[in-house]
Amino acid sequence: MNKIAAKWFFGHLFSDDPGARAALSYFQDKRRLSLATIKHFGLGYAPDSYSALTSYMKSRGYTDDELVESFLSGRSSNGKLYDTFRNRVMFPIIDVSGNVIAFGGRVMDDSKPKYRNSSDTPAFKKSRNIFALNFARLTCSESMILCEGYMDVIALHAAGFTNAVATLGTAITSEQARIMAKYTKKVIICYDSDEPGQKAAKRAMGMLEEVGLEVSVLKIPDAKDPDEYIKTYGADKFRKVIENSKSKFEYNMDSVLSKYDLSLPQDKINAVAELVKIISTVYSAAERDVYVHAVAEKTGVDAQSIRRDVESAQRRATYRARREESQNAIRMAQGYSDRVNNDYIKAPDIANKEEHVLGLLMLYPEYVKKTFTEGLLSVDDFFTGFNKRVFEYIKDKYSEGDTRYSDMDAYFTPEEVGRITGMKVARMTLGDNSETVFLQCADALRSAVSKKADQPDTLGSLEEMLNKKRKELN
Ligand code: UTP
Ligand code: MN
Repeated sequence: MNKIAAKWFFGHLFSDDPGARAALSYFQDKRRLSLATIKHFGLGYAPDSYSALTSYMKSRGYTDDELVESFLSGRSSNGKLYDTFRNRVMFPIIDVSGNVIAFGGRVMDDSKPKYRNSSDTPAFKKSRNIFALNFARLTCSESMILCEGYMDVIALHAAGFTNAVATLGTAITSEQARIMAKYTKKVIICYDSDEPGQKAAKRAMGMLEEVGLEVSVLKIPDAKDPDEYIKTYGADKFRKVIENSKSKFEYNMDSVLSKYDLSLPQDKINAVAELVKIISTVYSAAERDVYVHAVAEKTGVDAQSIRRDVESAQRRATYRARREESQNAIRMAQGYSDRVNNDYIKAPDIANKEEHVLGLLMLYPEYVKKTFTEGLLSVDDFFTGFNKRVFEYIKDKYSEGDTRYSDMDAYFTPEEVGRITGMKVARMTLGDNSETVFLQCADALRSAVSKKADQPDTLGSLEEMLNKKRKELN
C-alpha cells in the first residue's frame, strides 16, 4: 500500500494539479533540489484534497480498515475516511530492503505542524528505522553522519555525502543506535546548532557510545543546520568542517570551558573540577593521559595536579561501585528475586565475579581473543545460567570474527541487554582494566566455581557443622 501511495504522491508532483506547481517549485527553487535528487528520494506531493488518495487506494481494492491501519487515511467522527496527508510535500521512508514503509509530509509555508509523520503501523516502527539508511548503508562502512532532519540528509546526499542519515523526528533510541552499529564504526553527530540540537547531540553521544561506536560531534558554524550550511558555503567547506569534528572529550571540554571565565581563579577551579570528573570516567589510561594534558594546556593548571585529582576521583568511584555491589548482594540474598539472572541468589559472589569477567570481555576484544586462543575460560567456568548464555554469545560472536555485539537484541530481551550493558558500565567506572586485572578476575572466577563444585550442597554442609558442634559439646 505504501509503495502504491508513494508512486501516487510522486506522480502528483508532476501533475497539473494546481498545488503541484507550488510543490515542485518548493523543492526546486526554495530547497534547491535537482530533479535527480527528487527522483532519487522519491519525493512527492499530497494534493490539497479531502480524500483523493483514499479514493484512489479504494479503487485499487483496499478496505477502509486497511487504509486507517496504514495511516494513509484517518476516520472522521461520521465514519468517513479522509487523507492523512494533505497539501504537503512528501518524504517516503524506505527500509533497508527497499520497501516504502511510512511517510513524512512537510507544509510549504510556516504553518504548524511543520511535519506530519506516519505513526507506528504494522509496517513501521519509528524507533527502529532510520531515514536514508537504505542508501547510506551502501557507502558508510567507515562513518555515518547523523543529522536531525529529512532535509539535512537530502541536501548532504545531493552534495555527495551519501553516508548521511537521520532519525525520524525523535531523539535517537538505543535500538537505532544498535542498528547503526551494524553498518558502521563511527558516527559524526551533526545536529542543529541551536540549544535543543546541542542538547540532543549530548544525549545521542551516550547512546551511540554505549553500543561501541566511535563518536564525534560537529557544531556547524554560522548556520542553523547542515542543509543551510551546504547551501551557503558549499560541499568543500562542509568537508573541512567534518574533518575538524571534535572527539567527544574535546566537545565536552569546550562546552565546560565556555561556561567559565578562566581569568577568575574560582571559575578556573570549578572548570577543572568538572573536567576531572569527566576524565575519571574514561577507562583507558592512555586516553586519560591525553585528556589531562589537554586540560592542562587549556587552563594553565599543572598537569601533575590534574592527574592526582583524577586518580582520587577514580578511587572514590571504585569505592562507590564496590559498596553498591555489596549492597546489591545483600538485597539479593535477602530474597529479592532477580528476573534476569535467576541463579544470582544461589551464589551472588560468583555471579559478581562472572559479571566482572563478562564486562571486561565486552569492553576489550583483545581479552576475548586471549580467552579463546589460550583456552583461559570455558562455559563450565561459569555458574549462573544467564551469565553462561552471555559467555556463549561472546564465544559465538568471536568465532564469527565479531567483537562489536551489535546484534545483541536478536539474542537477548531488552531487560537482558540492559543488564549486560550494566556489566560494561560497571567496569568502565573502575580505573584499572589492565590485562593483569582481567587475568585476576578470570582466575578468581575459575577457582570460585571449582570450589563450589567441590562443596557439598548447603544442607549437607549444615549437617556436617551440626555434627561437629555436637562433638565439641560432648
Ligand atoms: P527541523 O525543524 O530541524 O526540520 O526538525 P528540518 O528538517 O530542518 O526542516 P526544514 O529545514 O525547516 O525543512 C528536524 C526533524 O524533526 C522532525 C522531522 O523529522 C524533521 O526533519 N519534525 C520536525 C517533526 O517530525 N515534526 C515537526 O513538526 C518538526
Ligand atoms: Mn532545516
